[in-house]
Amino acid sequence: MNLRSAQWYQGDQRNSYIHRAWMRRGVPDDGFDRPQIAIANTASDLTPCNAHLTEVARSVRDGVHQAGGTPLELPVVSLGETLVRPTAMLWRNMAAMAAEELLRANPVDGVVLLGGCDKTIPSLLMAAASVDLPAVVVPGGPMLTGTFQGRPLGCGTDVWRLSEEVRAGTLTEEQFTRSESAMIRSRGHCNTMGTASTMAIVAEALGMVVPGVAGTPAPDSRLLQAAHGTGRLIVDLVAEDRRPSTLLTKASFHNAIVALAAVGGSTNAVVHLLAIAGRLGIDLTLEDFDRIGSAVPVLVDLLPAGRFLMEDFHRAGGLLAVLREVRDLLDPAALTVTGKPLVDHLEDAPIWDENVIRPRSAPLVAAGGIAVLRGNLAPDGAVIKPAAASAHLLRHRGRAVVFDSIEDFHARIDDPALDVDADSVLVLRGCGPKGYPGMPEVSNMPLPKKLLEQGVRDMVRVCDGRMSGTAYGTVVLHVAPEAAAGGPLALVRTGDMINLDVPRRRIDLETSADELARRAPSEAAAAAYASPRRGWERLYIDHVTQADTGADLDFLLGSSGSEVSRESH
Ligand code: FES
Repeated sequence: MNLRSAQWYQGDQRNSYIHRAWMRRGVPDDGFDRPQIAIANTASDLTPCNAHLTEVARSVRDGVHQAGGTPLELPVVSLGETLVRPTAMLWRNMAAMAAEELLRANPVDGVVLLGGCDKTIPSLLMAAASVDLPAVVVPGGPMLTGTFQGRPLGCGTDVWRLSEEVRAGTLTEEQFTRSESAMIRSRGHCNTMGTASTMAIVAEALGMVVPGVAGTPAPDSRLLQAAHGTGRLIVDLVAEDRRPSTLLTKASFHNAIVALAAVGGSTNAVVHLLAIAGRLGIDLTLEDFDRIGSAVPVLVDLLPAGRFLMEDFHRAGGLLAVLREVRDLLDPAALTVTGKPLVDHLEDAPIWDENVIRPRSAPLVAAGGIAVLRGNLAPDGAVIKPAAASAHLLRHRGRAVVFDSIEDFHARIDDPALDVDADSVLVLRGCGPKGYPGMPEVSNMPLPKKLLEQGVRDMVRVCDGRMSGTAYGTVVLHVAPEAAAGGPLALVRTGDMINLDVPRRRIDLETSADELARRAPSEAAAAAYASPRRGWERLYIDHVTQADTGADLDFLLGSSGSEVSRESH
């Protein structure tokens, strides 16, 4: 076998002596002739959703050993979604860059990628695409379902719901606090169809996870079995030199978009898939999500759009059962890490509970997916998830109430004097990749308290940021260009009329072009993102691309492969 790691370990030069001697520590003589398999591990106490991955890594390690490889655990940058400030998305590209460079710089022949919490699987896939070494993802899996007052709790989604109930006066502060310890029942990531669940599913639809594994709950012993099997598989992939660039094709992205739509997945997957495709030079556009996904029925009845949780999804048959229902919409050419096309894995994939995974004949939503909007408010596009929106608001005309930053929003939204009603359109800017910076999940703005008390539960909201995959509502997000990059969102004033027409895919400001040309961007908004910054933030602001192309750094687009130009000296 012609191994990349032989460049480090073979021969009798001084350098190969050094490489072997420092790595030997009990490794037998032939340990250096075997495939060197990195286990890129995002386990961290500060990423609680991934903390169990050290145990998963042990099973991968056993599998690698059994197949004749040498496993090497490689801790990589880990991002805990709920903790990292100002937003984990600011660090996604840094995590991807660090993992890519570590894999390239080291004597590695193949890699198993262990991720879970929202940004960890995207950053690992971006890295794997750019370094293009044989790679397989083992998703860490969702947590089990917790309950409060006899009702199941969906992570994230029910935090929004319960906190709105407190604001509306239908839940006490004390009850709210008691629900806290019931929210996270076990190891694993969020149990709704949020971003973590979505990205595990999308990774499997892309062909980068052993089919049938995504969605296995974190405490389920079958996850360790899958990890063991993946450890064996990666050794085969190295022997066959099967690299991500042979799996991640336009066809596999097509299947990922079908899967995303059929499970009613998070809008965050749009940004992540665009970024992963960008690392491979695949011509994936925002329009592809609408063209491929918007006719796909939503078959999965999971929070935030539906009722159930990931444990139910897995019990009901998981992704393969869903894909079997929409098999005709999949691209049969797309391959998986098994060497077989994705569609070949769908023969034995029944639905075990049609309440959770609906048959094609009785979808949750006939045509779901993600709608891509354009108009004078979003010349480069914006997205909305119709399945999570209120049907009566998908065509709506309303008066803008504008906020220049999330801090401005929090300061004023509950002011009884705020001139806002149920028909108003809440506009929040300064939350794009450059503006915040890092494009936080703030687009699903909480509604004004006085309207909540009147029973209003949804309003049209427009923002250049992202939305948590666990959130819901009639939210137009990822507006591009963002306000901080000179987008028209910077010119909107309170009182302007905004026209949303999702069926026609339009979002327009009913203000004349002449009037807009006379306006200067809001000074308050500019001030919010003009503060001088150093280090990663500086690099990020200077180089991040807009949401419609994946919010990657412009100099990270494309692949450098696994070659290292020079020996270490
Ligand atoms: Fe980690 Fe939701 S906070 S997946």
